[in-house]
Amino acid sequence: MSRAYAPAAARRLTDHVAKLADDHPPIDLDSVDFTVRRPDEFEARFGHVLDYMARVELEVDRNVLELTTMLPDPPQIDRDFYTVWQRQEIQHGLILDRLQVELGREPADADLDSIGAKLKVLGALSHLTPFQDVCRMLYYLTGMATERSAVLAYNLLHRGTVEMGETAVADTVIGQIKRQEPGHYAFYQFSARGLWAELAPWQRWLVRLMRRISFAPVGANNEVQKADFGDVMATLGIAEDSDDFADQISRVEAELLWARRRGLKVPDYVARAFREAVELARDRAHLPHLHR
Ligand SMILES: [Fe+2]
Ligand SMILES: [Fe+2]
Repeated sequence: MSRAYAPAAARRLTDHVAKLADDHPPIDLDSVDFTVRRPDEFEARFGHVLDYMARVELEVDRNVLELTTMLPDPPQIDRDFYTVWQRQEIQHGLILDRLQVELGREPADADLDSIGAKLKVLGALSHLTPFQDVCRMLYYLTGMATERSAVLAYNLLHRGTVEMGETAVADTVIGQIKRQEPGHYAFYQFSARGLWAELAPWQRWLVRLMRRISFAPVGANNEVQKADFGDVMATLGIAEDSDDFADQISRVEAELLWARRRGLKVPDYVARAFREAVELARDRAHLPHLHR
């Protein structure tokens, strides 16, 4: 068994997941209007962003597989959350992918089922309960950074879509999706805070160490995907100030893991990962107009 939360933290999580299921059913495809007034312009500006996000959303299926490999015995509340969360994210992916296909693009190339060797090793070690809690903590930290990135990215994409006068997409695609992301972020934040409070010093030490080695921007699992993410950052206007973006997605992580190092605003491995994505995109110059 995994370590239990303090009663107040457990209650807050249970209430949160119940509310998430009630307030946010998966988005109905019939409620989506794919009308785009100027498809060529919209595709040229945001096509690659839609593709990146569709892929990451659809890869939720692999994320759940990774979870069950890495955490053989998760708490019931986590299982309840995966069910609600997976259904929502899949719809986000399907809707964004349909939109890019409507714009004449290829559908996203999502990796739905490959589990890396490293994760299998973690999964094997996770049969030791104290180690499973280290993996759980890493998973919550990843979830926090991922969902916070999604919140910020959809806000920026929504703004850009409104600016282009594409109100159908802004209201019924991006607007609907972006409303579901803060609840995911909140789940991971509550979970991370609750579990961190229960971890022993050696577990905390191991979490810091492993996080430093393994951090990557959302959906960026290789050099090509990192450069793709750099392009997304450029289009959304966050490439110029990637440290600020890094700060916004890692604030709670910095507070929990690195509180003792006063003045450490952004964990260096987070800031470095985003800077690297921007540099890779610039060097690749796949979309040169983005990186002048
Ligand atoms: Fe999503
Ligand atoms: Fe999400």
